[in-house]
Amino acid sequence: MRLFFFLFALLSSTLTSAAITRGQFSQVTDSWGSNPTNTGFYIYVPRNLASKPGIIVAIHYCTGTAQAYYQGTPYAQLAEQYGFIVIYPSSPYSGTCWDVSSHAALTHNGGGDSNSIANMVTWTTSQYNADTSKIFVTGSSSGAMMTNVMAATYPELFKAAIVYSGVSAGCFYSAAGQVDAWNSSCAQGQVEASPQAWASIAENMYPGYSGARPKMQIYHGSIDTTLYPENYNETCKQWAGVFGYNYGAPQQVEQNNPQSQYTTTIWGPNLHGIYATGVGHTVPVNGARDMQWFGFA
Ligand SMILES: *[C@@H]1O[C@H](CO)[C@@H](O)[C@H](O)[C@H]1NC(C)=O
Ligand SMILES: *[C@@H]1O[C@H](CO)[C@@H](O)[C@H](O)[C@H]1NC(C)=O
Repeated sequence: MRLFFFLFALLSSTLTSAAITRGQFSQVTDSWGSNPTNTGFYIYVPRNLASKPGIIVAIHYCTGTAQAYYQGTPYAQLAEQYGFIVIYPSSPYSGTCWDVSSHAALTHNGGGDSNSIANMVTWTTSQYNADTSKIFVTGSSSGAMMTNVMAATYPELFKAAIVYSGVSAGCFYSAAGQVDAWNSSCAQGQVEASPQAWASIAENMYPGYSGARPKMQIYHGSIDTTLYPENYNETCKQWAGVFGYNYGAPQQVEQNNPQSQYTTTIWGPNLHGIYATGVGHTVPVNGARDMQWFGFA
């Protein structure tokens, strides 16, 4: 009888995380929570896992996949170095952009992709006893748009975010309620609003929320012809508005930082913008700098 229970326990503990292998890009097939849009859930749990690990959600670009973003970014190697877990969501749509246009996606617990991604974070946090003060989100292009949306819809989950060449949260909003819609006027830099108006759009994605919000680092290239560079200003306006910074009067502007031709603008501790002159779509991920913004290095 005892042996039976022992074998049963062994078998079930093997089964619960059969799909997740330490040190390998793995798909999470366990029942991990509600997944209203059938978003793919992939994960990298490092061999060198911290006892209370951090989590980085790394969100792919249009035409990308979780696997492509795993291969094309340094987060898995950095996970081995710092002991955090990486979540790679994979978009469920055929063009594999993210839905950042529907009301559902732009609403806390609204049942969109953002909701599915938040549920991945919640599951991973409890499964691995993660440190909730070390949960971060980043992404490129469509993944950068989603990063802004995650920061607006789930501010309570994330401590910091890094946006590589996206648009402000809500800029792709589809008045017709279309899911996963492309919005040319936003992409081409024709949607302009004041910091206060952008802030209200972000704040209305989680009405009544008054707690802490992730600090934001915004990258954009000056010759981006996919998401025009005007989107840099609009995104910085949005978060300046949310944090109550004076958009027109940043604290500091540093030329050639973090590298030649890049300009860092600091509105305050919660908002840094990095404008990359001569860089198109998208600004390359800078893993070492990301580790500093997230506080691992
Ligand atoms: C594009 O987004 C803006 C808001 O940023 C919205 O006013 C406009 O209606 C959208 N365009 C389409 C075609 O949905
Ligand atoms: C962004 O804002 C800066 C500062 O106001 C301005 O000089 C620049 O022309 C703007 N960029 C674009 C692409 O509109």
